[in-house]
Amino acid sequence: MTVDWISNRLKPYEASIFATIGKLAIEHGCVNFGQGFPDFDGPGMVKEAARSAISEALNQYAPLAGALPLRQALAQKYQQHGLDYDVNSEITVTNGATEAMYASIMAICNPGDEIVVFEPTYDTYNPIIEMCGGTPVPVRLHPPAFAFDPDELAQAFSKKTRAIIVNSPHNPTGRVFNRPELQIIRDLCVTHNAIAITDEVYEHLTFHEHEHIPLATLDNMRERTITISSSAKTFSLTGWKIGYALAPAEATEGIRRLHQFAAFAVATPLQMGIAHGIERIHTLLPGLVNRLARKRTTMCNRLEDMGFNVFRPQGTFFILADISPLTDMDDISFVRFLIESSVKVATIPVSVFYQDQATAPKNYIRFCFAKKTSTIDKGLMQMKALRSLL
Ligand SMILES: Cc1ncc(COP(=O)(O)O)c(C=O)c1O
Repeated sequence: MTVDWISNRLKPYEASIFATIGKLAIEHGCVNFGQGFPDFDGPGMVKEAARSAISEALNQYAPLAGALPLRQALAQKYQQHGLDYDVNSEITVTNGATEAMYASIMAICNPGDEIVVFEPTYDTYNPIIEMCGGTPVPVRLHPPAFAFDPDELAQAFSKKTRAIIVNSPHNPTGRVFNRPELQIIRDLCVTHNAIAITDEVYEHLTFHEHEHIPLATLDNMRERTITISSSAKTFSLTGWKIGYALAPAEATEGIRRLHQFAAFAVATPLQMGIAHGIERIHTLLPGLVNRLARKRTTMCNRLEDMGFNVFRPQGTFFILADISPLTDMDDISFVRFLIESSVKVATIPVSVFYQDQATAPKNYIRFCFAKKTSTIDKGLMQMKALRSLL
């Protein structure tokens, strides 16, 4: 008899589309615009701080809550938004925003609870909610502006609503929720006594007039919000996996109960490096954001020249391109075609970010533009042949 290794809880969750595309991209030697991370390095100063921590023998377990200098740097960072978080009881360092989200949902979600999510939905939220016995309730961001309909959002809230997950700047659409939108979310949370869990990993990557507003800064929200972010995208150091959750003490207690068994602690020297970076964030960031803004413009212009309808992102490092002016193929077939044809470029089909495949839009693909100029030029050059191939 063969062993059935996979638990029933995990049976529904196969390898993600990102893993599948990544594998195909390597097999076909593609330029990879699919992967949601930079192919350039993070700031030397932050890396040097981590190296110094290793040299200074800061190599043992960090405290469960996180290395104190990092918690202090975070407390100071949020004070600049007018938010006071207690270093000891309200800040927890985790293995990336991913673990912070896992711990937060595990901390608050009971079987039967409903958690509202915006759709397209970043891929980790729904499986975690479901594994906790909860139900994700999707509310769509409608193209072309990728805004939610306030009535649809109101209808998604009910007596069963425990929380809403608010990812802004939003992956994959690149939307940054504005104050009126956040106020609508706030009013619904307050009326329904619901918790907000935010995913703000792209908080610093916004363009032009678009500004990230932490939901916890709105009236009556600090006491019902778990704010999650990470250093991955801010410092182009996704491999370091330093994330954090800031939340009222009682919520933090729940998050730490999970964290103590899932990870217990996070790499000490890397926390020291990120603490150093957060203390100097205002010097380190403008260069990165300006470079990204130029890449965004180049890529949007050139994709438009090729015939795609492009949503110019307000934040993140993703561009959604509508493929319907070019092809009748659905997004998954088109992504496969781009990989397997002579174009050899990998992207992500956006329909995979939707629960109900029957009604999911099938005409968007996602490009990541956090890539070296040489990578962008190479990929776009290969795509020039596209029209003649279709
Ligand atoms: C919206 C969103 N949340 C969380 C993450 C993961 O963050 P981390 O690497 O800090 O776990 C990502 C990474 O792509 C993301 O796009």
